[in-house]
Amino acid sequence: MSDSALETAIAQVEKVERGQAPAPVVRSFFDEATFTATHVVHDPATRQAAVIDSVLDYEAASGRTSHTTAQKVVDYVRAEGLEVQWQLETHAHADHLSAAPWLQAQLGGKLAIGAEIVRVQSVFGKIFNAGTEFARDGSQFDRLFHDGDRFAIGGIEAIALHVPGHTPADMAFVIGDAAFIGDTLFMPDYGTARADFPGGEARQLFRSIRRLMALPDATRVFLCHDYKAPGRDHFAWETTIGAERRDNIHVHDGVGEDAFAAMRTARDATLSLPNLIMPSVQVNMRGGRMPEPESNGTRYIKIPIDAL
Ligand SMILES: [Fe+2]
Repeated sequence: MSDSALETAIAQVEKVERGQAPAPVVRSFFDEATFTATHVVHDPATRQAAVIDSVLDYEAASGRTSHTTAQKVVDYVRAEGLEVQWQLETHAHADHLSAAPWLQAQLGGKLAIGAEIVRVQSVFGKIFNAGTEFARDGSQFDRLFHDGDRFAIGGIEAIALHVPGHTPADMAFVIGDAAFIGDTLFMPDYGTARADFPGGEARQLFRSIRRLMALPDATRVFLCHDYKAPGRDHFAWETTIGAERRDNIHVHDGVGEDAFAAMRTARDATLSLPNLIMPSVQVNMRGGRMPEPESNGTRYIKIPIDAL
């Protein structure tokens, strides 16, 4: 079966490898509270940039938000003189709140996510009984990416690949020779993302991962999360497709779909839900915006009892 989006992505990476196209500069900010890596990627020639998977600080006990983590991104962008074109989300995260609307107000950029976000909005809109004022059409975002959609960061070519499995809406953004793969693969010594959230599916995740692994071995890979691994004492969020194919403990070359799905399903059954899943999902399904205030002017996060 031909896969023209993947072929385009491969050709794009190879152009950078051959020196026929510029490589983007990537700076990452790791939030140890949620184990999330936010990436700022830019074209050194034009200084145009994208922010990928930002984090809003949220203290669950008090319900307080703050911007210490996101401010680091603002400071870096201003110090480097970058112009932000995009605020990209690889998916609707269940473990941290997005700071994209706040960053958009500070720095600009179009807010974008995968088009299948409408399925996520439909599922979680029901779970949280969000009411008719919550639009489930993706209209909270400036752009919804479909598989194979091409875009650019300044003069650097980019393409969006739909890589579902962790959630239905997961996208990978291949920008020059750098792939921002969201929650698909983790570091080779840690494995892969869980596939047991609503709409997740282990076999689909396997096929999405094998698709990413068809990118050239030298493709730089930037992860959304790291949790360290047994025997590793530091966080890491950058690897390569070659290293993943050779060494990924869950899905290195030679692991088949059946074996992966059995491993993934058994492992997921042992995992507890992320600490911040309730606020994260309610905010991120709204494009990172809080629910509308109630009649007293206060915004609330709901917790459905015995529903998840
Ligand atoms: Fe995730």
